[in-house]
Order: sequence, then structure tokens, then C-alpha cells
Amino acid sequence: MTEILKAGKAGIRKAAAALKRGGVVAFPTETVYGLGADGLDPVACARIFEIKGRPHFDPLILHECSAARARRLFSSVPPAAERLMKKFWPGPLTLVLPKARAVPDIVTAGLKTVAVRVPAGRYALALIKAAGRPVAAPSANRFGALSPTTAAHVKRQLAGGPDIILDGGKTRIGVESTIISFERGVPVLLRPGGLPLEEIEAAAGPVSAPSRRAYRPAAPGCLKKHYAPQAKLRLIAIGARVKPSARAAYLAFTNRPAGKWAAVKVLSPSGDLREAAAGLFGALHALERSGARVIYAERVPQHGLGRAIMDRLRRASA
Ligand code: TXA
Ligand code: MG
Repeated sequence: MTEILKAGKAGIRKAAAALKRGGVVAFPTETVYGLGADGLDPVACARIFEIKGRPHFDPLILHECSAARARRLFSSVPPAAERLMKKFWPGPLTLVLPKARAVPDIVTAGLKTVAVRVPAGRYALALIKAAGRPVAAPSANRFGALSPTTAAHVKRQLAGGPDIILDGGKTRIGVESTIISFERGVPVLLRPGGLPLEEIEAAAGPVSAPSRRAYRPAAPGCLKKHYAPQAKLRLIAIGARVKPSARAAYLAFTNRPAGKWAAVKVLSPSGDLREAAAGLFGALHALERSGARVIYAERVPQHGLGRAIMDRLRRASA
């Protein structure tokens, strides 16, 4: 049985108690909803994989309520990471660094590094603080499905799984955090996300692409086909001429396409990439529910949050 609670004081108190008992709680962050458990309890973390239906163990992100507490989960921190923590936490940035002894192997899937972030969502922060421990949480969707940006998205995919779903409304940023690891102290981009690359480079210098050795295709966010809606997704140029069809849906960047479609969503009439990212998964969930067999999705400009949007659309179309 899954209890759905408003993310007020009482809801957060109950959810924190459930986490302390080894329970699993879906909760809103500023990026997407997470499926959380006590990050230092391997059995509680194992339930996360079970509920998601992940066929194999993949490393999880640990969430903390302050940079000082988050830092203790790492065994060493290069200066560039220090600068990024100071500037962007709390926020949509995950750092991957050598793990401290206390971090269980199930969290890192046996790796020597751990992914950590301090989320900016106030409900997430309050929950982690009340629980008094790091909270391990992947996105609260079934394996390979679309990430959830509302409690209803979580309920539709995972009802009966988590002990509690905390409903904090729609998430503000709408795409997952940017993931940065380090090679010889130099930042490396593992996943574009809610914090634009330009801002990271302004704070910590050039960010490189992962070297072959560091690239681990086993990481879920790095699987080619991920964030996949049920319908076939086809990427098209903005305003490309596609024949309208009552069996196809259309995801536009700024302008509504002409003709009759099963469903149409416009990400941002003013061309604002932040607004587009915030509405991306909600729009894909809605287009998927229209029953369309194909979703035509316009490519968006690849700067700022456009990079994260295109990364998710490309994976969904793979
Ligand atoms: O915004 C977010 O990051 C959300 C919210 C809930 O915080 N979480 C999220 O978690 O997107 P998840 O599990 O869906 O994606 C985490 C990604 C995965 O691709 C995982 O492989 C990668 O982080 N990851 C975790 N630990 C890692 C490590 N030690 N080395 C490399 N990649 C790692
Ligand atoms: Mg995910």
C-alpha cells in the first residue's frame, strides 16, 4: 500500500520516519521526483531497485541537506569540485568523486566513486534534514520509462511500490541534475542536466568529455535508450514539414503545427529553454497518454538547458 501525502510539515515528518525504518519514499526535488531510501542501509537501497524494476544494480545518487554533510561522503575533493560545491549547492548538480568508507557498495554498484548532490527543492531538503541521513534516490520512474515531474506521474508508474509518495506539486526545473566527475582534478561531463554547462565552465574552467576508460555504458542515464516514452519518438527540425496524422503526436518548441494531430504540446511559445525543460517530461507523458504511435519532436537549440533537453530527446528516440 502506498500512502500519498501532501508535502507539508506532517507529511514530511511521516516520510522521514518511514526512511528511518528502512522504508522507501518518493519525493519531489527541484529537478524530478526521486525514489528515496536510507543511503547507508543496503537493504533499504535494494528495495529501490526492486520497485523500479531495474534488471541490474546501477549506482545511485546520494542526497544530502548541506554541502558540509555531503562532503563527508567523499574521501577526497579536488579544488575544482570545491569551487562547484560552493557555488552551486544546493542545486541541480551531482558530483562524482572517490567514496568514503561508510558508503555501501549497493549505492555505488561496486564502484570506488560515489555520486552526491544537495538538492535545492525545499521539500527534499526538509525531508533529508528530518531523516538525519543521506537519502539514496534515482528518478522515481520504472526502469527505462519517462522521469516523473509530478506525484501523479509517480503514482501511475509505481503505485503499490513505495511506502509513501510525497506530493509537492510540479518540479521547478524538470530535467535531472547535471553530473560531473573528475579526471586528474579536471571536471568531466557525464550527463548534461538542469545546471547549464556554460555556468559550470564559468566557475571551474573547461569541462571535458569522458575518456574511454571512464565511460561506463552500464550507467542507466548513459544507456542509449533511456527516458523512453511508449510511442516511437522521431526527432525533426523546427517547423519541418511532416504530414499531420490523427495517430501521431507533435512536440513543438515554440509554434503549434498546422493540421489535425492526436495531441500537440508546445514547450515554450517565447523560446525560453528553461521553460521548455521544466515542461519537457510532463509534455511527453501527456503525448504518450494520447495513444499516438509516433511522437514528432522538434530539435531545440543546443545551448543552456537545450543541451539537457536534446540529450533526453535523443535517448528517447534511440
Ligand atoms: O536530478 C537528479 O539527478 C535525480 C533526482 C532524483 O535527484 N536523480 C537521478 O538519478 O536522475 P538516476 O539514478 O535516474 O540517475 C543517476 C545517474 C545514473 O546515470 C548513474 O549511473 C549515475 O548517476 N551515477 C551514479 N553514481 C555514479 C558513479 N559513481 N559514477 C558514474 N555515474 C554514476
Ligand atoms: Mg533516471
